[in-house]
Amino acid sequence: MSGFSRDWLALREPFDQAARAASDAALASWRPAGPPQVLDLGCGTGASLRALAPRLAGVQRWCLVDHDAALLATVPEILQAWAVDRRLTVEWTCRQADLATGLADLPFPQGGLVTASALLDLVSEDWLAELVAHCRAASAAVCWALSVDGRLAFTPHDPADAQVLGLFAAHQRRDKGFGAALGGEAPDRAETMLRAAGYRTLRTASDWHIDAARSAADRAMLQALLEGIATAALEQGAADASAVQAWHARRMAGLARTRLCVGHADLLGFL
Ligand SMILES: C[S@@+](CC[C@H](N)C(=O)[O-])C[C@H]1O[C@@H](n2cnc3c(N)ncnc32)[C@H](O)[C@@H]1O
Repeated sequence: MSGFSRDWLALREPFDQAARAASDAALASWRPAGPPQVLDLGCGTGASLRALAPRLAGVQRWCLVDHDAALLATVPEILQAWAVDRRLTVEWTCRQADLATGLADLPFPQGGLVTASALLDLVSEDWLAELVAHCRAASAAVCWALSVDGRLAFTPHDPADAQVLGLFAAHQRRDKGFGAALGGEAPDRAETMLRAAGYRTLRTASDWHIDAARSAADRAMLQALLEGIATAALEQGAADASAVQAWHARRMAGLARTRLCVGHADLLGFL
């Protein structure tokens, strides 16, 4: 969960795809004037393309942007394997760029679509406002999936959940390269800004539902999340280290009978 390794993105992708299915289906109602042109911000290994391309008709052109050269280098192999047996015509290019400083240089597609998944909670209020302005200027629709909304609920409960999750939430607000991060406020702020810019929005919950009793994939996901939450909480509150470590040890001991819901929201915006 720390950083955005290929392994972490692969681990979360099935949970992401299940969580975002409703908004992906809703995007099928988008009717661009010509062949769909899509700009994907913070593409990772191309998960948004894999989620959305089957929902779009016609010859699609995607521009995938990320600053991480190692992730971008995996995209051709992963997309070629994914495209086998899929009757889709998708042209795509990758572009390495720092979104924090390079937004104005990106090819916002006129009348196209601007996508991002699991990105908005990393960015600042000012950066988001700039993104909305670029999308509006290009008359582009938006599909911003999987922004955390601050809800995190474990079953069963642990007495230290509130303490540890409070530290984790504070850590999510730290600067991730874009200024103070929006964290769990991202969906509300994005929706408000889009509406103020004249967009009609559709917001859908896209929560992860992880149940360790269900599968090995759920257990691996839960273990990664416990480690990520504990690491962030330790960074945030060194004075609480013993409480956080004890929480992590109890959570690991009880992992096999634990469920976790992580709240996310998807936002579609149309002009
Ligand atoms: C949580 S991952 C999501 C990746 C992908 N969209 C997905 O859903 O699997 C966030 C992505 O944003 C990228 N990212 C973070 N900060 C960035 C920046 N300043 N410029 C460009 N990309 C950035 C990361 O490299 C990573 O690929």
